[in-house]
Amino acid sequence: MTRYIFFSKIVIFVYVFVAIAQTENIITVEQSGNGHYRKIQDAIDSVAPNNTESVTILVKPGIYKESISVPADKPLITIRGSTGNASDVIVTWDQRGDIDKVATFHVGASDFVGRYMTIQNTYGPGHQAVALRVSGDRAAFYECSIVGNQDTLFDEIGRHYYQNCYIEGAVDFIFGSSASLFETCHIHSVGKGYITAQRREMPTENGGFVFFKCGISGQGTTFLGRPWDGVYARVIFAYTYMEDVIEPQGWGHSDGLREEDLRTKTLCGQYRCDGPGATTSNRVEWAREFTDQQVAPYLTIQFINGKDWIKSSPTTISPPAAMPSSPKPMKKKTPLPPSAPVIPSLPPPAPMARPIVHGYEEGQPIIMYYSSGMFMTCFSCIGTFALSSAVLLYLLA
Ligand SMILES: *[C@@H]1O[C@H](CO)[C@@H](O)[C@H](O)[C@H]1NC(C)=O
Ligand SMILES: *[C@@H]1O[C@H](CO)[C@@H](O)[C@H](O)[C@H]1NC(C)=O
Repeated sequence: MTRYIFFSKIVIFVYVFVAIAQTENIITVEQSGNGHYRKIQDAIDSVAPNNTESVTILVKPGIYKESISVPADKPLITIRGSTGNASDVIVTWDQRGDIDKVATFHVGASDFVGRYMTIQNTYGPGHQAVALRVSGDRAAFYECSIVGNQDTLFDEIGRHYYQNCYIEGAVDFIFGSSASLFETCHIHSVGKGYITAQRREMPTENGGFVFFKCGISGQGTTFLGRPWDGVYARVIFAYTYMEDVIEPQGWGHSDGLREEDLRTKTLCGQYRCDGPGATTSNRVEWAREFTDQQVAPYLTIQFINGKDWIKSSPTTISPPAAMPSSPKPMKKKTPLPPSAPVIPSLPPPAPMARPIVHGYEEGQPIIMYYSSGMFMTCFSCIGTFALSSAVLLYLLA
């Protein structure tokens, strides 16, 4: 019998260890005053500089009129809308200004995650008015709506991942030097302009924008992009559905660039896109139609070294201390906010069950298994099983 008791103690120890390991630091933001803070920025400010553990800021529904900054010395922060629907948590600001000075939401820290929220700059057309600026490395956004007009998303520098996001704007509304992978995102153009303005001045830079299984809709027509400062721009639209909103030439450029450089150094083009806007017959001469081989390095999560840092969403989230209601389980939703027109011709959202197909290499899907999340889930199952067995053994002993 002592052997059983010893065994039971071991399993209880393991279970408690697992339970402690799974606890997340959670700070709640609620406008009614029932959370830890009423403003998102106050919650960020409460995180100690140079933090080494992940912190989740859980934001209850509301319209938060704030200009938010996650400073560079506060890595590992997750900001998450509590309902799982981006239209319930709206961060809004309406200021124009220099792209590196004014933004509704600036992420300067590394290892940031944003989930289920809307980030908008309502300034409107005519000037630079950034909604989201990301200059930290390893940043990921899931099911967020990023809404503006000119310069909506400043993907300044670093490696970034966007999944099931809705991005709206008119002029250069996804721009910068980062290496970014947009997976099953909905891009919506609200006026004449350019969807992307990628900046890559040297062939050694890791930057580039890859759109994988996205959908493009809009009002009027737009260009897929124009290189910004430098001829080495890389923008790849793959397996993307384009409504009849793309200018037939597809791409533009500033006067300073020579056609020959564009032909030899710029990497802007499409791969297996469809829809009425995807026709390539009248594209500019330097637009690429990638071959399987050329596109392979981009259609993998490893373009942003994602295997090392992209994690699954937690399957459970522990309720914050002293909060009566536990958060609802997060359900995957479509990326469209209520203001966005629902476009029946867009490709259906990717199936949400894990594992996710992240890209194609040599014609084969790359399946990425999310190690840490699955590990913890599996671990906690084992813990629960072990605890029940231990109780049973005690009863029997
Ligand atoms: C955070 O780390 C940086 C770099 O190591 C250091 O310069 C800074 O003083 C630290 N800040 C605090 C508040 O400890
Ligand atoms: C999100 O909330 C909005 C507004 O309440 C609602 O119209 C929309 O259907 C919701 N989206 C999903 C996917 O449930």
